[in-house]
Amino acid sequence: MIQTVATVLHNTQLASCYGRIGLACKGAFALAKPGQFVMLGFPETIHPLIRRPFSIHRLLTANGSLRGIELLYKTVGTATRRLSRLAVGEPVSLLGPLGSAFVLPAGAGRIYLAAGGVGIAPLLFFAEHLAGNQLRAIECRLFLGGRSREDLLCAEDFDKLGIAVVPTTDDGSCGDQCRVTTPLEDAIRLAPPDLVLACGPREMLACVLGIVRQHGIACQVSIETMMACGMGACLGCAVKGHRDETRFLHACMDGPVFDADEIEL
Ligand SMILES: Cc1cc2nc3c(=O)[nH]c(=O)nc-3n(C[C@H](O)[C@H](O)[C@H](O)COP(=O)(O)OP(=O)(O)OC[C@H]3O[C@@H](n4cnc5c(N)ncnc54)[C@H](O)[C@@H]3O)c2cc1C
Ligand code: FES
Repeated sequence: MIQTVATVLHNTQLASCYGRIGLACKGAFALAKPGQFVMLGFPETIHPLIRRPFSIHRLLTANGSLRGIELLYKTVGTATRRLSRLAVGEPVSLLGPLGSAFVLPAGAGRIYLAAGGVGIAPLLFFAEHLAGNQLRAIECRLFLGGRSREDLLCAEDFDKLGIAVVPTTDDGSCGDQCRVTTPLEDAIRLAPPDLVLACGPREMLACVLGIVRQHGIACQVSIETMMACGMGACLGCAVKGHRDETRFLHACMDGPVFDADEIEL
């Protein structure tokens, strides 16, 4: 893990409140794994004071070596509004890579990915990692949910990787009008996967945990909690342990990727 100042390589607005930002960085970031995150701050001003956590969305490479990382962000408040306005060449402070990563079990033949909204961010990194490591033989399907069509991000990137995308929206503007967990559960019944990886809003992840536990499917979830330090110091990111409510885990150090049988949401 390193702390560094990274300059903006690109900052592209996607639909409505989403954007993708490329940040020039090297060193330890070359070893980042899908599921890990960074704490991002603004070095030139003290507002906002506290760094914010973002999943690593992609590694940016040129001629086989790392050029930087890319983040996918949703503008929701002070820090993400500033992020959305950054121009090429402007600096941000980065601490990372932090936290746990998705683990691919040996011999996995079928994997289902489930994403809600900006929760797609670490799953594209995972999918590109599979493709980059000649793991195309693994059958992979993405269940992609959002409130509306504009909240379904990165579908074309998964298409390019040959991963089938099953879209759902709350308002029916794209795919079936239902929760993303509905086609996920149908698929689990018809063709059980070796592993489910999920990232999205807490309620969605709680539903995924219920489904995989009922069907006895291995699952890893990447959770989003409030984080102030990202390094185990503030204890602000505590989550309850599964079957033992007196046990707390910390999303920044023990997670953000947890096995389904580790936590309760
Ligand atoms: C491990 C991890 C990875 C993340 N990855 C991404 C990512 O890839 N892309 C992305 O856009 N966001 C991601 N987030 C969430 C991101 O950190 C928050 O959206 C960001 O901190 C908001 O900062 P802000 O100053 O813009 O909003 P604030 O002004 O701090 O808050 C605005 C609103 O958003 C809510 N909010 C703030 N942080 C969170 C949070 N962590 N979870 C739920 N609600 C929150 C607040 O309650 C408030 O209602 C991640 C969070 C974690 C813990
Ligand atoms: S964010 Fe401070 S302990 Fe996890």
